[in-house]
Parts: sequence; structure tokens; C-alpha cells
Amino acid sequence: MQTVTSIKNSKSKIPLVMITAYDALFASLFDKNVDIILVGDSLNMSFNAKPDTLCATLEIMIYHTKAVCAGAKETFVVCDMPFGTYTDEKMALKNATKIYKETGASAVKIEGGVQRAHIIKALTSNSIAVMGHIGLMPQFVRSEGGYKIRGKNDEDIEQLLLDAKAVEEAGAFCLVVEGVKAEVAKEITKSVNIPTIGIGSGADTDGQVLVWSDAFGFLKDFKPKFVKRYLDGAKLIENALQRYANEVKNRNFPTKEYQY
Ligand code: KIV
Repeated sequence: MQTVTSIKNSKSKIPLVMITAYDALFASLFDKNVDIILVGDSLNMSFNAKPDTLCATLEIMIYHTKAVCAGAKETFVVCDMPFGTYTDEKMALKNATKIYKETGASAVKIEGGVQRAHIIKALTSNSIAVMGHIGLMPQFVRSEGGYKIRGKNDEDIEQLLLDAKAVEEAGAFCLVVEGVKAEVAKEITKSVNIPTIGIGSGADTDGQVLVWSDAFGFLKDFKPKFVKRYLDGAKLIENALQRYANEVKNRNFPTKEYQY
């Protein structure tokens, strides 16, 4: 099982594999097959059909993280701190401590670079492991007016490099780089000593993360450019459900084989 130290030591080595999970069932399938499981607040969208991540609450994240930890006993689990739960140092420390006490999560994840460095520092200096998250940050979707690919001009590239450095200096052990132009993500990766985990940021980061329901094709109408579908999950379920329904309606299930 990975630890903060082994993850830090993965810099520039075999890429880290991270995937999201929101429940014990899928976490148990992913257990030991990935380096890190992220209980992302993306669950608000993929599991809860909300338009963005912003209304995920601490209670929701704790509930799902407990379930994931129960299913993935031998994998490093990270819990996303939801929007509005780390506005200042005191609040962040109280809420991150609650996550540590009530779940088995090994770390929390926080969105933000320079502007959140003091929050990350408040947690890391109180023995809470923090994964940073810069670039396209879904919790900023309303204030920024949409999801925008980052690193398209010199000013933004400079900001991203400052963000990465600030997160590293605040003590984060690892950094998610989301929705950043591939060549800029490569530069960010070179500029810090902690591993970067990319999503929609090209191949030159120290690891990759995907949202499981995207990677396995469970959301039929959601297929952004950066997502590769490793399974046609929705179709498989629909076909299986159709067979089950037909067999029930035609009295072909249950046969004697399935009765007491
Ligand atoms: O919430 C989430 O799943 C995430 C990943 C996309 C990195 O933050």
C-alpha cells in the first residue's frame, strides 16, 4: 500500500494511477489495483446528478469516504474537501480533522494555488497530509463562469508555476494538475519536487487520474476530449437489464436452477 512517503518518492518514476470511487463496492474492485483512490466531490455530479460539485457537503464526503475506506482496505484513500469547508485556516483544520477522525482517509485534497497556500500550510503543519489541485478547478466554476482550459498564455503559465510552487512549499505531498495544456503541465511537473497527477493535462505528469464513471462509460452523454473509455459500462448494464426484464416478463427467470 502506498504511503505519503512512497507517493512522494514516485516523482519521475513509474506513473501513479489514481481513480475516483464513491462507494465500498467499486472501491473493493479498485483496491490494490491502483495507487490512490480519490473520493472526489465529482460524486456530486456523477452520482448525484447535480450540475457541479459546489453543493457537496462535508457530511456527504465523510459518508462516501467511510464507505470507500471500508471497501479499499489496502489502498491510499484521499478525501476531497468540499467547497466552503476550507475558507480559512481554522475552519479548514476543524473540517480536515473531522475527516481524519471519522474516516480512514490518508489525506485530503484542496483546490487552489497561491491563494490557498496558507490553508494547506495550516493543515500540513498540523499533521494532515494534503494533496493540492491546480489548473482547472471545478469548485471555481461559478466564480470563473465555466470550465476553462488553463495555460493558454504567458501570464496564465506564470500563475500556474507560482501556484505549483506555493502548494509544494506549503507542504503538500502531491499535486493534481487539471485541464492544463500538455506542454505547460510538463513544465509544472519539472518545476516541483512533488509528483504531479494529471487529468486532461497530457502525458508528461507523474501520474494520471480519471473519474471512474467517465473511464468506464457509465455516463452516456458525457465524453470530454480527455477521457478515454475503457468500458462501455452504460451499454453493458442496459443490455443486461433488458435481458433480465425480458426473462421475467416471459417467465424464463427464475428457472428450477434458481429456486429452493
Ligand atoms: O472531484 C474529483 O473527482 C477530482 C478529480 C477530477 C481530480 O477532483
